Amino acid sequence: MAMTTRGPSEELDIALFSMVLCFSRAIDFLHPKISEHHLRVAYVASCLAEELDLSQNEIDDALIAGALHDVAAVSSVMHFDLFDDALTRAHTSHKQMPANLHQHGQEGYLLLREFSPFANAAAAIRFHHVNWNFGYGAEFEGEPVPLISHILRLADRISVMPEDGHHVLAQVQGIRMAIAAESGRCFMPKVAAAFDGMSEKESFWLDLTSPHKEEIVRCRFGNSKLSLDLDGLYQLARVFGKIIDYRSPFTAAHSSGVAATSEELATRLGMSPHQTRLIGVAGNLHDIGKLAVPTEILDKPGPLTPAEMFIIRQHPYYTHRILSTVPGLETVNTWASQHHERLDGKGYPFRSRELTLGSRIVAVADVFTAITENRPYRSGMARAQCLAVLDKLVADGAIDGDVVAALRGDFEQIHHIRHQSQQTHAASPA
Ligand SMILES: [Fe+2]
Ligand SMILES: [Fe+2]
Ligand SMILES: [Fe+2]
Repeated sequence: MAMTTRGPSEELDIALFSMVLCFSRAIDFLHPKISEHHLRVAYVASCLAEELDLSQNEIDDALIAGALHDVAAVSSVMHFDLFDDALTRAHTSHKQMPANLHQHGQEGYLLLREFSPFANAAAAIRFHHVNWNFGYGAEFEGEPVPLISHILRLADRISVMPEDGHHVLAQVQGIRMAIAAESGRCFMPKVAAAFDGMSEKESFWLDLTSPHKEEIVRCRFGNSKLSLDLDGLYQLARVFGKIIDYRSPFTAAHSSGVAATSEELATRLGMSPHQTRLIGVAGNLHDIGKLAVPTEILDKPGPLTPAEMFIIRQHPYYTHRILSTVPGLETVNTWASQHHERLDGKGYPFRSRELTLGSRIVAVADVFTAITENRPYRSGMARAQCLAVLDKLVADGAIDGDVVAALRGDFEQIHHIRHQSQQTHAASPA
């Protein structure tokens, strides 16, 4: 089972919704234009679901769907122009929508449905840009469109309508009129009517624009006692790792390679099965902070400028900040966010010298995976060259010689497992 009800005897106690919010915050780092966008959509979608008298489970699905709805719009292929489209074309009829506008919904669905507690949210995300189109939007390409998709469609639009520089309450009437004018065309009439009912309340708008929105959203999640056991956390980290990798063809499946290598090294270095699984979670999440690095820098074909280098070197710091919001994830956070630290204290961003075995393993697994995996611009290194690079790093005081010795001791097998894992979890959503 992926989830349990939390109790004092549980070995691991990670609230599912904390993980959702943590990842939602990470994707909101992507672009200033979408700052807090996912949090806002989660808030509005949950209010609409409540106004429509949906069950608490459905409200929870709306919260998860809102918090993750544009998760697949993070790849370099899907450029941020998409957001411009999504944000400005509320008045565009269905037929005039750009063909690829639905692609990130479909891809988000394929990525997220792999984690069974997200099944309903994924199904809603699939069609979150479908217009009601006077009833034709009850289906899309022969598939029924869930009510929560139409809730997201409206929540997505409302979330971007309040403009900075004017008090939100001064904008309410204008927004309500604009939404009412699109009822039937863009928005499902009963969802638009629900909005009309709830948008009279000043509190709705003050919550929507509140700096404490995360707490407000967290309180709206009914099943707050739903927690992940080790298997559930592991499965969820795999899905999130795939989304992190999915962003760039340069790092396709990198996280799953780091996770698999870390697990193999941990086993050989005597870590318990529990810790071995946890290090797989750390491997999958170690580059979550890269979501805060623009794709133009991640995918830049030429050498980076000093300013770009500073930005890319921020990513383990962001990994730390993002994961530190999840109570119970402290060990995973340490192992994940220290992967660019060095034993001599010259690593970044913490300049730590006190690195636990888990951190040392993930650091070696990261270098090993980076230099042995194939990338679009070069092939991965073979054994001799790879070990020469790692030995040099040991001699320089960067990484742990015992961990490298464990790798050398079973190189072919670990290399094979790393490769297999990356093949299996290749960063395509299908
Ligand atoms: Fe979207
Ligand atoms: Fe959106
Ligand atoms: Fe990294």
